[in-house]
Amino acid sequence: MRVEDLDQVAEVSDQAFIAVIGKLYGQRLERPFFPLAGLALRLWTDPEGCLVSSDHGEIGGALFSVARGSLGWFGPLAVATTVQGQGAGQALVAECLHRWRRRRVRMLGLETFPSSGFHAHLYAKFGFRPGWTGVQLRKRFDVEGVEEEVEPARPLQHANLPLPDLGFLYRGLDPAAEVRATLLRHAGRVFASDRGLAILHLQDAFHVTPEEAFLPFLAARDRDSFLSLLAAAEEASRAAGRKSLALRLPGTAWTAFRALVERGYQAGPAMLRMKAGDHLDYDRDAWYVDDWL
Ligand SMILES: CC(C)(COP(=O)(O)OP(=O)(O)OC[C@H]1O[C@@H](n2cnc3c(N)ncnc32)[C@H](O)[C@@H]1OP(=O)(O)O)[C@@H](O)C(=O)NCCC(=O)NCCS
Repeated sequence: MRVEDLDQVAEVSDQAFIAVIGKLYGQRLERPFFPLAGLALRLWTDPEGCLVSSDHGEIGGALFSVARGSLGWFGPLAVATTVQGQGAGQALVAECLHRWRRRRVRMLGLETFPSSGFHAHLYAKFGFRPGWTGVQLRKRFDVEGVEEEVEPARPLQHANLPLPDLGFLYRGLDPAAEVRATLLRHAGRVFASDRGLAILHLQDAFHVTPEEAFLPFLAARDRDSFLSLLAAAEEASRAAGRKSLALRLPGTAWTAFRALVERGYQAGPAMLRMKAGDHLDYDRDAWYVDDWL
């Protein structure tokens, strides 16, 4: 995928998702579905993992992915409604997996619609198992609550500073590309300590709005460092004038789920996560927030 492709990619992806959501949920959505700036941030983050399929110069399908070192996930994946069912979707997934093998990605993931047999069938053909969930949680800052006092973690000021080793969560896990993209494109802030790291998006990214900030990634060794990174993200969101902070959490990260609810977060809808590779349950009871779409 090239930067020049992004307008066509956005059109194809928006139309495909608006159509499938209409079919699965009866909702009638309008463009833009994926913010162009969010797609651009993804491409900037991992250009080798973003692919298009085209026919005579016309883009028919697109796949975005991010390899966080040894842990990779893809999405959004979309094929133009006019050419679906002709193999383009499978070709894009096959090429992504081929590239991940070369890059030694060992844990492969995606998030999809829980009520669609079609999607489960498609991804199961590549060895992805439908055994997990991703749950949205949101904290509204205008709701009063009693909060545990914690010292907020420090911001990471420069994109090229060494990052903490997150091997305690998954060996080889490395979010450096997203850290760099977030800071260099001024999409948000990064917080780090020797016990963990968090990425906060405030603008020009998926899931953010003028009212809401989004936390695409947080990995911490323990409860204290998790809460300290979270407090830093909340403080920065408030300081930027946002009224709420949203995140997605693996459904298996149950201790983190409970800590978030205690801190005033409310659970939202869940998506189906499918995984393939090694150590698929690495996120069980982990102090871990991540976003797979
Ligand atoms: C999901 C999507 C990317 C798949 O791309 P595609 O090019 O249509 O898929 P392919 O032609 O490669 O094949 C998909 C498989 O599902 C089957 N299939 C295709 N259309 C189908 C349909 N409407 N219903 C059921 N099965 C279908 C195909 O036969 C094939 O399986 P098979 O080879 O075992 O027969 C595409 O349909 C799409 O963009 N959908 C809307 C957006 C979306 O849902 N994205 C993914 C979100 S996780």
